[in-house]
Amino acid sequence: QSQRELILFVGAFLLLLPWFGGLVLGELSDNFSQCLDFFYNRTPPKGVCAAGCQPICQRYRNQYHFASLYHHEHRAPLYSAYTLSPADGKRPKAFWMYEPQLAFSRANSEMTPFQTPVDQNVIESQAVLQDYKNTTYTKGHLNPSMHQRTKEDREATFTLTNIVPQRAGSNSGPWSILENEVLRKFKAFCNGMMYVITGTMPYMSGAQWINNRVSVPEYIWSAYCCPSYRDSLPMSVRPFFPTYAAVGRNDCNSTQEIVPVNTKVKASVRGYDVRRMSLEALENILTKRLAMPISLFDGQCQ
Ligand SMILES: *[C@@H]1O[C@H](CO)[C@@H](O)[C@H](O)[C@H]1NC(C)=O
Ligand SMILES: *[C@@H]1O[C@H](CO)[C@@H](O)[C@H](O)[C@H]1NC(C)=O
Ligand SMILES: *[C@@H]1O[C@H](CO)[C@@H](O)[C@H](O)[C@H]1NC(C)=O
Repeated sequence: QSQRELILFVGAFLLLLPWFGGLVLGELSDNFSQCLDFFYNRTPPKGVCAAGCQPICQRYRNQYHFASLYHHEHRAPLYSAYTLSPADGKRPKAFWMYEPQLAFSRANSEMTPFQTPVDQNVIESQAVLQDYKNTTYTKGHLNPSMHQRTKEDREATFTLTNIVPQRAGSNSGPWSILENEVLRKFKAFCNGMMYVITGTMPYMSGAQWINNRVSVPEYIWSAYCCPSYRDSLPMSVRPFFPTYAAVGRNDCNSTQEIVPVNTKVKASVRGYDVRRMSLEALENILTKRLAMPISLFDGQCQ
């Protein structure tokens, strides 16, 4: 009798094995099927990457927290997508993490704190802290920790696959003002979910790299979709719903076609302006720049 039970038990276990295998070993998936909840209508953006990209469902402490589209050659994300909810505490003390599954195809898909020395496969497959040492760039979050409610959600943003080399003039200047503005709009007017996608525009020519390894974006962009918002919106706030977008300069010397420079601001943030715009305007800029049709939110979030 008990031997029969054992056989049944082992049989059931073997049947479930592929399922556990998929979940625990988290083989790299070529789509966002495990984390579609972070996209409006469970639909990731169309366009953005023609080749060489890896969708990452950002997993930390056994849970998915957001999604990133990682570009292998850039060793940086092209965007991170998340649902916004105001932080219930402070910015966590940064302990930086990497993605084992980029380095070893059958590795755990949970982000993991860096160990020293850093494994050579990790160094080859992604950005490491050393890349940011001795550079004039900060580690810029695409999904900022203060847009995430729980401590674990906030800690999960400290993976280098959510980070791009960002000028301090942008990161602690106009770009952080934009992030706070979006947070305030959410609190004051958004009834349900706010879906945010924040991404980068690499240089068209004259690419910049830190440590000859990690691609520096020329611009950073962001867009949100809040499909359900207060019905008595003040006139002045109507243009901001259900969608809104912005592009920020990450190179004070870039031309001014996409984002003009305000020369009247203080020197430390001069040339790092952020231009607010409609979702449609941002999609047009990206479509032109990336030479492919771009749709960030399913059906324009309508
Ligand atoms: C997504 O990826 C998984 C695992 O790689 C695969 O089994 C599944 O068919 C894919 N789904 C779609 C819609 O492509
Ligand atoms: C840091 O950068 C400076 C200027 O680019 C360079 O001269 C120096 O050798 C670098 N130091 C290290 C430790 O890489
Ligand atoms: C911008 O250009 C000026 C003049 O060529 C140069 O001195 C400065 O270092 C450049 N700044 C950056 C951040 O590239």
